[in-house]
Amino acid sequence: LSSQEKIKEIDDLVSGWIKTLAVQTKEQRAKHGLKVSNKDGDHRNLVTNIDRANQKVLIDKILALDPDAHFVCEEAGEARAQSMDGQVWFIDPIDGTLNFVLENRDYAIMMALYEDGEPVLGWICDVPAARLFHGGQKTGIYENERALEPLTDKTLTDSVVIVSGRRLVVGEKPYGELAQRACAFRVLGSAGISFTRLFAGSAQAYLSKLSPWDLAAGRALAEGMGYQVKNLDGTSPNMLLSNSVLIATSSIHREVVKMVKD
Ligand code: IPD
Ligand code: CA
Ligand code: CA
Repeated sequence: LSSQEKIKEIDDLVSGWIKTLAVQTKEQRAKHGLKVSNKDGDHRNLVTNIDRANQKVLIDKILALDPDAHFVCEEAGEARAQSMDGQVWFIDPIDGTLNFVLENRDYAIMMALYEDGEPVLGWICDVPAARLFHGGQKTGIYENERALEPLTDKTLTDSVVIVSGRRLVVGEKPYGELAQRACAFRVLGSAGISFTRLFAGSAQAYLSKLSPWDLAAGRALAEGMGYQVKNLDGTSPNMLLSNSVLIATSSIHREVVKMVKD
């Protein structure tokens, strides 16, 4: 994937799939309703018929393009890539399933393509709002057809930060201090929607523990816009494991790394 034209071609193709799938997601729900079940015996960890159907649609499309494709998908059914060598596709077929089930708002479809461990392209579609964020370092970042401006650096006191509510409430370091020092904090219930706030400039940092499929697309897009995407110890995320990750402007990153050390 060395040429910019080839990457742009893939962006256009996948963006088309995801826009269609977003429309189908709403139609299928209206037509057939939701069949909701728990995963791993956890009442908060939900999966629906639509999560499963969306994942299958995307996997089938990628396999038609590359029968040897490797995947890291949230839902069961597809073997998980064991290494980041070569091309790896990440799929979160509905991010914010609890929001999807309980409120029917603030949920996203997310997908990303990495090559040899580096993000190439990411897609996050805010389904109810019909806003697709897509692109990467080599193509620039877009909201639907509109190119997004690179971010302006801001310090914590001038910023809105988004955090994982549960980690804030249980007092995990540095959630409380970060939320207190910021201009305001938010808890949104969807990693994908949280990322879109950063891209739109209405928030400047997001701190959470994320699985690979929660992080992959957002990382590709955030790095393309100039955000730092790092673990709290300053290392780069391991895309095959969960990471306690901070996505933020450079200034906020410096402040939080210091906060964690002190
Ligand atoms: C979840 C959401 C949530 C985040 C969790 C994720 P899911 O994804 O993004 O905001 O805090 O860590 O698992 O399960 O709805 O795809
Ligand atoms: Ca999901
Ligand atoms: Ca998710």
